[in-house]
Amino acid sequence: MTREELIGINAGIVKTVSSNLIQHSPNVIIIVVSNPMDTMTYLVHKTTDLPKNRIIGMGGALDSARFKYRLAEAMDAPISDVDGMVIGGHSDTGMVPLTSHATRNSIKVSEFLSDDRLQQVAEDTKVGGATLTKLLGTSAWYAPGAAVSALVQAIACDQKKMFPCSTFLEGEYGLNDICIGVPVILGKNGIEQIVDIPLSDAEKAKMKESAEGVSKTNGLLEL
Ligand code: 2OP
Repeated sequence: MTREELIGINAGIVKTVSSNLIQHSPNVIIIVVSNPMDTMTYLVHKTTDLPKNRIIGMGGALDSARFKYRLAEAMDAPISDVDGMVIGGHSDTGMVPLTSHATRNSIKVSEFLSDDRLQQVAEDTKVGGATLTKLLGTSAWYAPGAAVSALVQAIACDQKKMFPCSTFLEGEYGLNDICIGVPVILGKNGIEQIVDIPLSDAEKAKMKESAEGVSKTNGLLEL
């Protein structure tokens, strides 16, 4: 099956599921997990009347968990010591691991790891999904399930917790008419705030490239 055919099939399923959800539960908050996730999130945005705060793409929470694991492994530290986020598109080429913002107990990870090692951590993070798929012989399920459950808990318990999630952007990060992973605050209303953090020039360039890739995939949708 070609990638285009697969996207067409997933798009049909996502459209049917979202319209049924809205019909039976008009106040629904939809968390999109289907791949290509940013494009499927954009599809829900374009084909339903739901306000943007109630359409959330899950990718960054999962990618960030993998990033933290790789950072902890590289520093020989417990994961509980590590904080870090992955923004951008949820794909091998689209992810932007924010190495410049990642910390170990508030100390920048660059104090512990060389540029080359950090680069390797970022590359291993980006192929996390593909690596697991190869090892398991199927797509990952535990970590995506755990990530969705963390998002649901943040909404259900109104935690105002920050996660990178795919959301519709209107000028934030210099991007428009696209759903892509950026830090957001999740609470009882879904996405309650988009957090526009300063990026380094290299991160800005990667984010722009990532958005170009997502927009290209969006172009395959029949809207
Ligand atoms: C994952 O990252 C394949 O998107 C799926 O595990």
